[in-house]
Amino acid sequence: MNCRNTIGRPHAVTVALLTALAIIAPQGILAQPPQGGPGAGRGPQQPPAPTGPMANEKYKNIQALTNVQADQLDVTMRYVSAAINMRCTDCHVQEASGEMSYEKDDKRAKQTARSMMKMVNGINAANYGIRVECATCHSGHNQPVGLPMAEMLTPEQVAQMTPPPPPPGGGPQGAFGGSGGGRGQRPAGPPAADVIDKYLAAIGGRPAVEKLQSLSITGTVTNRAGQSSAFTIEEKPNKYRETRPTDVRGFDGTSGWEQMGTKTVDTSGFVLDQALRLNDVGSALHLSEKYPTLQAGGGRPMQINGTATTVVAGRAGIVTDQFYFDSASGLLLRRVVSTRTPLGQLREQVDYADYRAVGDVKVPYEIKLTTWNTLDTYKVADAKANVNIVDARFAKPR
Ligand code: HEC
Ligand code: HEC
Repeated sequence: MNCRNTIGRPHAVTVALLTALAIIAPQGILAQPPQGGPGAGRGPQQPPAPTGPMANEKYKNIQALTNVQADQLDVTMRYVSAAINMRCTDCHVQEASGEMSYEKDDKRAKQTARSMMKMVNGINAANYGIRVECATCHSGHNQPVGLPMAEMLTPEQVAQMTPPPPPPGGGPQGAFGGSGGGRGQRPAGPPAADVIDKYLAAIGGRPAVEKLQSLSITGTVTNRAGQSSAFTIEEKPNKYRETRPTDVRGFDGTSGWEQMGTKTVDTSGFVLDQALRLNDVGSALHLSEKYPTLQAGGGRPMQINGTATTVVAGRAGIVTDQFYFDSASGLLLRRVVSTRTPLGQLREQVDYADYRAVGDVKVPYEIKLTTWNTLDTYKVADAKANVNIVDARFAKPR
């Protein structure tokens, strides 16, 4: 799954595999004396023939690792811990006395890990010609890495690009990236409403945001190939139009459209949702209506470029929307939208920076929109609040 993107990803896999080998090496497979010596016909990848009792003969509750030698169970567990970045106690029960009851199945993470072990065994036994490991998907993350984000390409790389294969599965599951079974209780975060209030205060205060009835923004947008073009975004609450030289998209409050050259098509569903990602006027005022499950994340603060953030996440249907607010200033730094498809999670990210005063509110002057196939950086040259924009601007051209 990591092979499709030739930029950056293989490195991550290599690092994960090297880490795994480094962990196994001191006492594990690599330290085993060679079995049968040179020319015995066994490649270095082949596991050595069992020389002692198997794990299920020594331990009490082995259901998946039936092909593992007893003396390799411990190092296998260390590999699992490293590959998915979890501690023994994330999966195993520690009694009040401090003693570990490794055989107990009470923690959900252990049960998940066991299904994963069976899955991996199944894939490897099926002889697809590949070897799958925990790190193939997890790469040292407790949740598998989702679709890689687009990165800035050189024009040469763009010229060499072939159409990408359909996206593979994987990606965060819950509003905060997963089930978290066995990860221990997360400390409660602040109420989501407080985080949003702080954000509204940071961009000018709730009354000013409520009074904001339109925005007109112009500037330059640069794509991942480094090509720049002019853009204009006009918006009112629930109305949006983005104009580029070759492409115009709009939403009149009811229906969406896109005009490319002389052709105009209706847009709806995911395509429309995606086109409206930058439609922000007043949206913070209505977040809790859009996402009744809105909640703020506790636990470890998420860092963005060294800045601690507070995450607010909501879910509606197949969409999970995560908002990363600067914990100190309250400003919105990032939004991550995950859309669940039968094949996996489509992930989009919007980064906001360089907030400046526009009328009575603050607006980001740099916006970066990243998806699995797009990286558009918007640099705002001029923004005007509460200018008159006639509704006809948002209507489908005829
Ligand atoms: C991601 C979850 C996970 C982590 C982390 C983990 N284990 Fe395990 N462990 C398992 C699973 C699953 C089994 C059962 C495997 C099976 O059913 O074949 C197991 C089995 C064991 C057993 C055998 C218990 C028995 O009596 O059946 C021991 C001992 C053990 N683990 C020790 C450790 C140690 C030590 C660590 C930390 C270095 C660790 N584990 C980390 C998931 C985990
Ligand atoms: C083919 C990709 C893939 C492989 C290989 C894989 N996993 Fe997973 N793993 C996933 C996905 C996807 C999830 C998220 C499932 C969810 O959140 O419901 C996950 C979730 C987990 C979780 C739950 C994490 C949590 O926070 O509760 C554990 C534990 C886990 N995997 C362990 C393992 C172990 C151990 C291996 C190797 C034996 C492994 N996985 C191999 C895809 C994979």
